[in-house]
Amino acid sequence: MSEIILSAHDVCRDFKIGDGSVVSALKHIDIEIEKGKLTILRGRSGSGKTTLINILGALDRPTKGVVDFGGRDITKLSDKKRDDIRRCEMAFVFQSVALMGGLTAFENVEFGLRLAKYPYAKRKARVTEVMTDVGLDKRMHHRPSEMSGGEQQRTAIARAIAHEPMIVFADEPTAELDTATALHIVKLFKDLVAQRGMTIIMTTHDPSMMDIADRVYTLEDGEIIDSR
Ligand SMILES: Nc1ncnc2c1ncn2[C@@H]1O[C@H](COP(=O)(O)OP(=O)(O)O)[C@@H](O)[C@H]1O
Ligand SMILES: [Mg+2]
Repeated sequence: MSEIILSAHDVCRDFKIGDGSVVSALKHIDIEIEKGKLTILRGRSGSGKTTLINILGALDRPTKGVVDFGGRDITKLSDKKRDDIRRCEMAFVFQSVALMGGLTAFENVEFGLRLAKYPYAKRKARVTEVMTDVGLDKRMHHRPSEMSGGEQQRTAIARAIAHEPMIVFADEPTAELDTATALHIVKLFKDLVAQRGMTIIMTTHDPSMMDIADRVYTLEDGEIIDSR
């Protein structure tokens, strides 16, 4: 039996643009994200992937519709409550890796734990554990400039997941990586799902990743046109 951790019902997102016209970026989206699974949102550039993942991750609010996360409609909560949910229960990985250049990989991840108010006494052990999970235990004390693009993205993933979030959102996390490195990152996501029971939702426009996902939703022009 699968458990639904996050769902959207009849979600629409309109953007008003300069000339007064309206772009319907999402049209009546229904989607269910299963706990302990790797879900991919795929679709061409402009199909609505970022708009949808931002709404699911409480970074943006829909024009219409409901987003249920753990029994709460998060679209109705205050900004403060949404900030708390994002910081403590969710995690985000982006296309461009935004590590702090002056800090080592270890320190970057440790800093993330501080922001998430992770218990001080457990921080160092948790950083070592999560760096091992992402395969970077030998590179922990390198600075970003001393790591490859793939290693930097692994560090960003370690920082994102260190506080043990309920769900991870990754918007085009592989777009700036070469194909082989990108595939390694998606395999890492798959391992985190299989071995650590994490729930991950990622977007991509790269068709070569689809086989690795548990669920794939295809977006086109703001609508889900296929799921498997
Ligand atoms: N802030 C915005 N203002 C106006 N239009 C937007 C905005 N964000 C996205 N859009 C439009 O919504 C559609 C979907 O965009 P997006 O979700 O970024 O697609 P994707 O991530 O799949 O490339 C596009 O037509 C885009 O131009
Ligand atoms: Mg996008």
